[in-house]
Amino acid sequence: MHNNETIFSKTRNLLGHIKYRSKVNFFRYLASQINLKNKDYSKDNYKLNEVWKKSLNEMRNFGITKLPTKIFLPFDINKNDQIRTTNDELKKITSQLKVDSNLPNPNKFGFSLTLLDINSDFFLKKIFTKELFLLIKSYYGKKFSLRNRPHLRLDLKEFRKEEKEHNYFHLDHCERQVHMVILLNDLDENSTHTQYIPETNKKNWLFVNEERKRKDFQELVSKYKEQYGVKKVIGKRGDVFLFDAGNGLHRACYGDTRGMIKLMWAQFRKYAHWDKNYLTKKIETNEKQGFIELSDKSLKELKENFWDKEYFNLVNKP
Ligand SMILES: [Fe+2]
Repeated sequence: MHNNETIFSKTRNLLGHIKYRSKVNFFRYLASQINLKNKDYSKDNYKLNEVWKKSLNEMRNFGITKLPTKIFLPFDINKNDQIRTTNDELKKITSQLKVDSNLPNPNKFGFSLTLLDINSDFFLKKIFTKELFLLIKSYYGKKFSLRNRPHLRLDLKEFRKEEKEHNYFHLDHCERQVHMVILLNDLDENSTHTQYIPETNKKNWLFVNEERKRKDFQELVSKYKEQYGVKKVIGKRGDVFLFDAGNGLHRACYGDTRGMIKLMWAQFRKYAHWDKNYLTKKIETNEKQGFIELSDKSLKELKENFWDKEYFNLVNKP
């Protein structure tokens, strides 16, 4: 009887999974799992040095790494009146970093977000480096692209009325999305931060229904949490983290105010929130994360650091 039940529940899970996947991304998922190569890319005889190689190995082995670099904005996030003071500071550095608009009043989740212009020197000189390219390229082992326009976000404790369901451990579509987080203020365990279960980027999720609130999925999460522990994306202002949010279990943990800049890379347009009807749809919904217009000057500079146009395919306005 017991066996029959197990077989029954396994079959039911598998069918549910296929139904869910076929609706969402079954074939994309399959395609995304192949050819994750172990080749370390180099270009024009330029190779990652030992510290960057160590970071690449951490990405491969654990799905998360703190990069051997610091990226600062020339101001800290204030303890009080954070939105106004951050807007004032951002205005002083428009020659380095252009923002779309002032940070708005926070939403019910306490988020205040503005989009960033990657034609800014901040991105061209500090972020899209040869090292970052070779690391991400080596991790994917194939084509990838920036997924959205990068954003700067404040998660403000005093305005948070509700928590997003990102606080459940989950996967971002199982398609090896790589996220970069740059800390704009010091974060400790009591701050809002991302938690990540190392090594889960190497798990095969094919026979798992990863709808985050499912009981069986959360049981699996508990098992992996026990087995591998939890890494916290906390540290000092200027610290930069990279993690595979696509295939590695992660969640947001809400606490004291966090400021961050976030970039995301992916393999498929589906998650880039961009399509040919982009303008009509997105302007209606007031979501402008979709596309980027790269100037010829920016494209030239990016290319010098190996970031050819194709690595912006998902977001570059045709
Ligand atoms: Fe996520």
